[in-house]
Amino acid sequence: MDLPNRPCLLAFCRRAPRFEEAFRAELRALGAPLFAFAPGSGTVFGADDEPRDIGPHPELWRIHGAGRAALTVVLLDEKQRVRLRRDAPEAEGTLLAAVREAGRAVRAAPRGIGRRELLLNSLAVALGAAVLQACASARPVDDRRAVSGAPSLLEVSLVVNGQPRRLQAEPRLVLLDALRENLGLTGAKKGCDMGQCGACTVIVDGQRMNSCLKLVAQLEGAHVTTIEGLVQGGQLHPMQEAFLREDAFQCGYCTPGQILSAIALLQEGKPTDDDEIRERMSGNLCRCGAYPNIVAAIRGVAGRA
Ligand code: FES
Ligand code: FES
Repeated sequence: MDLPNRPCLLAFCRRAPRFEEAFRAELRALGAPLFAFAPGSGTVFGADDEPRDIGPHPELWRIHGAGRAALTVVLLDEKQRVRLRRDAPEAEGTLLAAVREAGRAVRAAPRGIGRRELLLNSLAVALGAAVLQACASARPVDDRRAVSGAPSLLEVSLVVNGQPRRLQAEPRLVLLDALRENLGLTGAKKGCDMGQCGACTVIVDGQRMNSCLKLVAQLEGAHVTTIEGLVQGGQLHPMQEAFLREDAFQCGYCTPGQILSAIALLQEGKPTDDDEIRERMSGNLCRCGAYPNIVAAIRGVAGRA
């Protein structure tokens, strides 16, 4: 089945869902298609078109482990990577609440934020909250009373520095706080906490990213590398050695982010000159001004690569 190269939702429902026009209008406004499956049928609710029959696709039920809950919902990004997967005890109301809340968040966001990432973040948070609400509503009354006031937590599994880790996370928890507060990995630093300094850079599924902007709820199954994971068999990573050799730090606060960003830079492609290194490292700031030495360290490792 062809999936679009933009964020979309897959919903596996144990019985055929009935989506009212109100839901479809919310979906169109949000701009994320929904592929809804029930046993023996499949329908795509496009962002612009009328609902279209696409057949049942039983292989997708197997791939996503669907069928045990009334609803299994999967959020895919533009490269069809799973960003979130959740089971819920009810389908239509859960999806309507999630799509409506995500739409509100997208409309309220300030200008200048990337549309795809905003859509994914909003959908991930809204889905997490809607599924929790559906689970809470489905509990017996006594059980509900017992948990009222308790924080709303999601279960998320990650692989951090090669180790499987399981987190109970609030939907708003960002990766930086999860690493530092929940997992005790304090190598990633909190500088600006708004995606502008790069002190919190880690590598997620091979890509460098600002962990202060990444919601844990979006990272089910992701592989995360932090500065603590670079040493292998007691041996520093070549980039760590180069930073030491070139004296590429003063206070060291930005250094874990600089090193991880530099490693990812070389994995993305070898730079042709110092200008390109500076350009491609421009997301990592150093208040101590160690830039010439940082560039020298990266140039040295690139030259040997
Ligand atoms: S702390 Fe994340 S970019 Fe500054
Ligand atoms: S070494 Fe101090 S901020 Fe970079």
